[in-house]
Amino acid sequence: MAKGLDIGTMNIICAEKEGEDVVFMQQRNAFMELESSDLTKTMLDTSKVLYVEEDNGISLLGEDAFRFATIFEKEAKRPMKRGIICSDEKNAIPMMKLIVERVLGTPKSQAEVLYISSPADPIDLDINVLYHRKTMEALAKKMKYDTHVIDEGLAVIYSELADYNFTGLGISVGAGLTNVTLAYLATPLMSFSIGKGGDWIDEQVSKTTGLPKEHVCATKEAESKLGSKDVDFGSVKGAITVYYDALITYIIKNLDKRLSEIAPPKVSFPVAVAGGSSIPKGFFDLFEKKLRETKLKIDISNMIRAKDPLHSVARGCLIAARTQEAGKGKKVGTTATATTTQKKAHGKTTTGKKK
Ligand SMILES: Nc1ncnc2c1ncn2[C@@H]1O[C@H](COP(=O)(O)OP(=O)(O)OP(=O)(O)O)[C@@H](O)[C@H]1O
Ligand SMILES: [Mg+2]
Repeated sequence: MAKGLDIGTMNIICAEKEGEDVVFMQQRNAFMELESSDLTKTMLDTSKVLYVEEDNGISLLGEDAFRFATIFEKEAKRPMKRGIICSDEKNAIPMMKLIVERVLGTPKSQAEVLYISSPADPIDLDINVLYHRKTMEALAKKMKYDTHVIDEGLAVIYSELADYNFTGLGISVGAGLTNVTLAYLATPLMSFSIGKGGDWIDEQVSKTTGLPKEHVCATKEAESKLGSKDVDFGSVKGAITVYYDALITYIIKNLDKRLSEIAPPKVSFPVAVAGGSSIPKGFFDLFEKKLRETKLKIDISNMIRAKDPLHSVARGCLIAARTQEAGKGKKVGTTATATTTQKKAHGKTTTGKKK
């Protein structure tokens, strides 16, 4: 057995194989603190809510923190910001530990191989990811997994570019960051992140419209459609469109800049685009249009839209883990697994292999 774990600013997702299927377990990377009372505890126990008792009260975790935030008129806290552990949230690590334990579960065999994703250092923010990466690695190792860490962009390449021998550009447009890796035969030539993603859109639209970030985020997830010529200026949807356009332009500008600083091999590279913020209708076409209009230092061949953008990183981590497990000690990235159909099962998402 082997597992893949995507530790993201908004979602923590585990991928593993069950027979021919890939099963995803997912929780929001969030918690909410409540005053303790027996009534609350009884209620939480009955409704099978994920929570932990502390000296001063109770913390609800994951999806439940979000669900109950509206009921208790409180804000759900987030342990990560801009792709890494939030330094000004003292409970960030213990809360993430609990969510990771829930999503990952215990190893099913001795020294089960686990690949976890980590962001690459952002090129536009004064932060580095070393502490976050080491903390998450230590957390998984403590759970007795044979733990390895890969860049989030490389995980997208494992998930989406098997047909191209794991050569290409992998891009994950997430909540806190956008991660990019350029790889040749599964070897990263360049990895970096950009300090903007879905959270940045929520923040900017919230500032311009005066609406709470949570409201903007909900509208964005439910209704975003990009690329239309008639932008409805003055509305939330219009503002979301404007900032999505600015985000894509910014990602491509930084990609162009970073590529100009390296000497890539003279081959054509396919580009795979994944991550929750790439889900809106029109995102992929707009991204492709802007990318092809830019005279990049590399030749772009095919553009590949991840079939399941939210689960692509976890799936890529699983493929890396399974490859490592199959050839213990060998370099990952030489085998491919093709998964094509999807169904939802009891809160888990299952991606099956077509026979
Ligand atoms: N249908 C949708 N339309 C637009 N945005 C969406 C949709 N679904 C999710 N998102 C956005 O995708 C982001 C979450 O994506 P993802 O899970 O890939 O990020 P993450 O891995 O948690 O973050 P990061 O990689 O930056 O640490 C959020 O900003 C969320 O609002
Ligand atoms: Mg991510």
